[in-house]
Amino acid sequence: MKYRRKSLNNILVLLMLIAVILLDSCNKKEDAFANRKVSFNSDWSFHLNDSIKDKDTIGASTKWRTLNLPHDWSIEGKFDEKSPAGYGGGALNGGLGWYKKTFKVAAADSTKITSITFDGVYKNSEVWINGHYLGKRPNGYIGFQYDMSSYLNYGDQNNEIIVKVDNSKQPNSRWYSGSGIFRNVWIETTDKLHVEQWGTYLTTPKVTAEKASVNIETRIQNDYSKSKKFTLETTIYKEDKKVGSADIINITLTPKSGTILNVHAQVDSPILWSIEKPELYTAVTEIIVDDKVVDQYKTNFGIRDFKFDLNKGFILNGKQVKIKGVCMHHDLGPLGSAINTRAIERQLEILKEMGVNGIRTSHNPPAPELLDLCDKMGFIVMDEAFDMWKQNKTKYDYANDWDKWHDRDLVDQLRRDRNHPSIFIWSIGNEIPEQWNGNGVEIAKELASIVRLNDKTRPITAAMNPPVNMNIDEVTLQFEKKNVQVNPIAASGVLDLIGYNYAHQTYAHHKENFPNTPFIATETTSGLETRGYYDNVSDVVKKWPVRWDLKFTDGNQGNTVSAYDQVQTPWGSTHEATWKVIKKYDFLSGMYIWTGFDYIGEPTPYEWPSISSYFGIVDLAGFPKDVYYMYQSEWTDKTVLHIFPHWNWKAGQTVDVWAYYNKADEVELFLNGKSVGKRSKKGDDLHVMWRIPFQPGILKAVSRKNGKTVLETEIKTAGNPDNLKLTADRSTIKADGNDLSFVTVDILDANGTLAPNANNEINFSLKGNGKIVGVCSGDPVSHESYKGSKHTALNGKCLVIVQSDTKSGRLELTAKANGLKSATIVITTE
Ligand code: GAL
Repeated sequence: MKYRRKSLNNILVLLMLIAVILLDSCNKKEDAFANRKVSFNSDWSFHLNDSIKDKDTIGASTKWRTLNLPHDWSIEGKFDEKSPAGYGGGALNGGLGWYKKTFKVAAADSTKITSITFDGVYKNSEVWINGHYLGKRPNGYIGFQYDMSSYLNYGDQNNEIIVKVDNSKQPNSRWYSGSGIFRNVWIETTDKLHVEQWGTYLTTPKVTAEKASVNIETRIQNDYSKSKKFTLETTIYKEDKKVGSADIINITLTPKSGTILNVHAQVDSPILWSIEKPELYTAVTEIIVDDKVVDQYKTNFGIRDFKFDLNKGFILNGKQVKIKGVCMHHDLGPLGSAINTRAIERQLEILKEMGVNGIRTSHNPPAPELLDLCDKMGFIVMDEAFDMWKQNKTKYDYANDWDKWHDRDLVDQLRRDRNHPSIFIWSIGNEIPEQWNGNGVEIAKELASIVRLNDKTRPITAAMNPPVNMNIDEVTLQFEKKNVQVNPIAASGVLDLIGYNYAHQTYAHHKENFPNTPFIATETTSGLETRGYYDNVSDVVKKWPVRWDLKFTDGNQGNTVSAYDQVQTPWGSTHEATWKVIKKYDFLSGMYIWTGFDYIGEPTPYEWPSISSYFGIVDLAGFPKDVYYMYQSEWTDKTVLHIFPHWNWKAGQTVDVWAYYNKADEVELFLNGKSVGKRSKKGDDLHVMWRIPFQPGILKAVSRKNGKTVLETEIKTAGNPDNLKLTADRSTIKADGNDLSFVTVDILDANGTLAPNANNEINFSLKGNGKIVGVCSGDPVSHESYKGSKHTALNGKCLVIVQSDTKSGRLELTAKANGLKSATIVITTE
């Protein structure tokens, strides 16, 4: 909120009058810029794959359907063993899609600049407005904008925008990409004299408890055909309170030209951005001509001080913070890759609950909404640019566009993202094939110089393969330091942070290998689990530790992976093994685990019928796997006692029972009231275990500290599945056409115990102002559509996602399954 005072006198009444007038003008000013950026998502027509070859034959087709963006057409298709996208791409097809939309632009806007902004279109988008070609953008993850002003009809006449999206050449991704205009679209309307897209850059070079200095760089464009004299004012707010203002600049800009202006401000007693209290400030930039504000541009930013230290790891605001991060791909499970802010927020909430404090945007620029949420919720983001440079990883991937586009794409990512306080690391690439040859060093240097030109405030890393030839003994998995070959990029000194994926056996030796550069484990673990599935224990006893490649070829039941933290990729580790190392050494800044959530595509092993990954600590539906609680016991202040597996086995069968716990010195386990022993973690143990013969009934665990009970928990043998239970994450949602309620379905026995092996098909129906937009059980081998209204549960659980429309009212969701009592839940939309 901004108050501009010209003159004041000391007559009280007049002062009050002025205050009222100014308050009123302040509201008007806010209104005046409310339309600077408005959503352009609704009422598009879409058409997939047929005779339309170019935009001129578009009229010939009648097969258009109406939809709202963001949209991912691949998720609507069928899983196809022979899909050209491969299992890596989730066995879902790409294709060629067309979007069009008819719209009017107010006559009053004919003197303004009207631009269309796409936050991301996968991929190879081409855009026409009223027949004029605006351009092409091959990269599916980058945002871009076109100025449409010269080609628009104003007033009553219609305009038609056409977007061609070509994701037909497959494979072009190692994971599920989705296809279409899968991020938000905006119309931006500004004065011809305006702040450019991503036109501000705020840094806080000096931060103390007393004050923070703020540098503000602003790029301004004059699209008038005459010179423009203006004043630039930048004011800093904390919520609605003005807390600083930058020097005012008066300048004249020649016709059709741009300039970059640098100003400085100071914030006294700054409230620092931290993970626990992610405090944000807003800079309001105003361009003033003849006393009138002609453009207003808002930038959220944070004030914090950090470094990566050779001995102490990551230091934020003077305090050592271990980065407990996860890697995330961009799909939202059953919603595909069509972004939805609430769906991202829910993912982050689930991760935060587990104690996660970092996100790596593997391996591409994320949706802007993810970064906004990380700013607000307090995550340490590693913002990654590329999964490949010049050399392909899949036949039709971005390497084919590298030469022409990498500079522009990287600059745009940096300009878009560099004001986000949550970003602490830039990653210029993931496991780039060229890393081992000289060409790789050359490219790394070029990319690093692009980053440094655009932002010097964060360190640059690359998620390399282990930069020293590890010589890991295959049998003992021990690291032997001999014939060490240093990765040329790591050796070149171009990186500020040495980052590499996996090879936790080498982390302790980091300082011997790289005495001058701090470390981050850019990617770790790659453990594999199916939620709620536990191998037949007597077999498992023989087989543990079980390697992934033995797992699926032994006739194992339908590509399931035991959810004890025992199964790992050969290049990775169990969850416990890597965390133990990271925890032990202060100089290891932290890690980003592969992955927080399961994602579509890249099943490992790469084998039909699996179509989604097993790496997640949380499954595709958002249900935690057991290892989630190991992290929660280590990474949060919550008091944790989690025991597993379920308690439905064959009589006499030997079962391993694990417990994750904290804040206690022992756990005692009771089976049907009889103690089966106390266990305590020794040394760096992260769980305790009992191996006991199964007997139906109640398994109860009690954690104690100094003999006093800390927590008790129990699991029971479930009877036959009897009824369904629905639980909504939020029972009131916004009636805005976007908001979501995530409803969990539990299959219970007659006593309310989860039936842990129940895999019933559940049918959903919805009455009221909304629709079902996703169904999912988290099963990596399910080929049922995520977009249907029925789904088979996995191990007693299923998820259904309900979306509001724009009318407020109520939604009544009913779930039915043969032979089970149905359930209904009401969700209010307002
Ligand atoms: C890594 C790679 C990730 C993912 C992972 C699976 O090497 O960077 O993208 O493929 O392996 O374990």
